[in-house]
Amino acid sequence: MKRKQTELSKKTSYQKLKAKYSVVSFFCGCGGLDLGFAGGFSYKEIKIPKLPFEVLAAYDNDENCIKTYRQNIADHAEVKDLSSYNPHSCPPADILIGGFPCQDFSVCGPRAGLKSHRGRLYQALIQYMEVHKPMIVVGENVPGLANVMKGEILETIKKELSGVGYQVEVWTLFAPDYGIPQNRTRLFIVAVRDDLNGFPSIPIKKYTNEEYRTIKWAIDDLKQLRDDSVPNQSQYFKAAKSKNRSQGDETSPADSPSYTIRANSHSHIQFHYALKRRLTVRECARIQTFPDDFIFPHSTTTNMMQIGNAVPPLLGNIVAKSVFEFLEKLK
Ligand SMILES: C[S@@+](CC[C@H](N)C(=O)[O-])C[C@H]1O[C@@H](n2cnc3c(N)ncnc32)[C@H](O)[C@@H]1O
Repeated sequence: MKRKQTELSKKTSYQKLKAKYSVVSFFCGCGGLDLGFAGGFSYKEIKIPKLPFEVLAAYDNDENCIKTYRQNIADHAEVKDLSSYNPHSCPPADILIGGFPCQDFSVCGPRAGLKSHRGRLYQALIQYMEVHKPMIVVGENVPGLANVMKGEILETIKKELSGVGYQVEVWTLFAPDYGIPQNRTRLFIVAVRDDLNGFPSIPIKKYTNEEYRTIKWAIDDLKQLRDDSVPNQSQYFKAAKSKNRSQGDETSPADSPSYTIRANSHSHIQFHYALKRRLTVRECARIQTFPDDFIFPHSTTTNMMQIGNAVPPLLGNIVAKSVFEFLEKLK
């Protein structure tokens, strides 16, 4: 009887969580932001509850990203070049998410801005919005976007989003404030359809400087592990430290959040705080808050790129919660 009741209550709580809101994901990469929206994963000892979002379709033009995504999340991901696509080929959804490519906006990128092909890819989001009118759109990018051409590019993007019928806000979130053990700042461009009242609240900071989770907190238990009993722990760049001190050759202090995990590290990922080697793929995934059962199936270079490009799932989840709370208030 007792068992029956437990099963019943499990079923009831599942039903309560049955997806209420549909999501389409652009530029999904390996799925960091998507995992944040879906929830239902464990990071270290922290259990992230499932959120009632269902990702219907996810697109990226990189086959390797789609392979990682499908292997770890679900097979709704497909290869699609969003620089020239037909929005009618995508399903309508309540929410559109998309960390559009950032190389041209990044402080370390060439800063070609909107002139470049990659710089215009945010327009894929706008094309979808014009056709399907999702309630909410969440775009993500590097903080450098706010400074390119003295902020003109960000203003242009905001204007174009408003032009198709949306209110727009930009949230600058510093990941350690939300429990991510990494110095990483990201811009979230949040747009709400004009006919909806109000706006999601910018997530409240949870940690102060003294409380920040450190790199040691994130990866110390992996220190003695040389095999893949925790997946991807044996995979790391063997490149020696360069003679002229160059980016990526630093060592994160053990008692601070890690340096930013970069996508294009050219084999130069920061060194472990206690060992004479660079961080492993798993250690970088941990610092980015991926669960240990999220397996990266490619070479070190490709895996590191996917990890470095991702929104930390924990941060994505915090943004998703704010979107969910707003949607619930609309009723
Ligand atoms: C910053 S990453 C997105 C990471 C993702 N949001 C996550 O959390 O894992 C940008 C992605 O855009 C993809 N991309 C670049 N150009 C594209 C295009 N023309 N069509 C579709 N995807 C493209 C890249 O392959 C890359 O995975």
